[in-house]
Amino acid sequence: MQFPQELDSDNIPTHVAIIMDGNGRWAQQRGMPRPMGHKVGVESVQSVVRAARVIGVKVLTLYAFSTENWKRPPLEVNALMGLLKTFLLRELETMVSNNVSLRCIGQKDRLPKEVRETLDRVIAETADNDGLIFNLALNYGSRVEIIDAVREVARKCETGELQSDAISEDLFAEHLYTSGLPDPDLLIRTGGEARLSNFLLWQASYSEICFVDTLWPDFREEHLVEAIRVYQGRQRRFGMTGDQVQQP
Ligand code: FPP
Repeated sequence: MQFPQELDSDNIPTHVAIIMDGNGRWAQQRGMPRPMGHKVGVESVQSVVRAARVIGVKVLTLYAFSTENWKRPPLEVNALMGLLKTFLLRELETMVSNNVSLRCIGQKDRLPKEVRETLDRVIAETADNDGLIFNLALNYGSRVEIIDAVREVARKCETGELQSDAISEDLFAEHLYTSGLPDPDLLIRTGGEARLSNFLLWQASYSEICFVDTLWPDFREEHLVEAIRVYQGRQRRFGMTGDQVQQP
């Protein structure tokens, strides 16, 4: 893939976050078991990581497993965990050679031991890469993330390490799982639904949101390019007026 001509190279979103939805429906529409949708969805993940690198996105966050997804049938949960592990092992070399660094947000400790160990290994082996940050949201829930941050900030106040007056937006954000990462500029949800589903609620405050009908297993490089093209056509105002943001 080459840099797409239709995109403005001076206005590439630094951080793109994606809610990968529609795997189950994709499979069901074809009379296949739901996990087949996840399996083909892994090809979309590969395609999007490749495209993000070429386009020059710095951080790509994918919502791969939510804190609520444990409620799914055990067969589907197991299939997802298996796919993740295989994906990580298979992609490690490609990530290393493409200068991609893997990160993870979410409560990693509660993932099956094998997945956790594989994840830790890939994160460690790609830690020095300074190209695309490929950030997987795994066992992630935004409300739990916020509660975790509140607890840590409260603990620091109790021990006297922190004065409550010093709590600012920046300080609070430093206690979220995404600490050190910029907020998403563009948030895409595939699969035709228009909701955030407990994903990056704090961080997406000023994200441009793009809801697309394409089911995740059908989502490929060209769909990411199209979403970025839509993003480039929007005016981000951050609470200001249109005239104010147009001023140099
Ligand atoms: C939502 O579709 C998708 C998920 C819960 C899992 C996404 C996982 C993958 C694409 C594969 C593994 C990921 C990586 C990074 C290798 P859904 O099942 O809720 O779809 P539906 O709304 O049609 O039921």
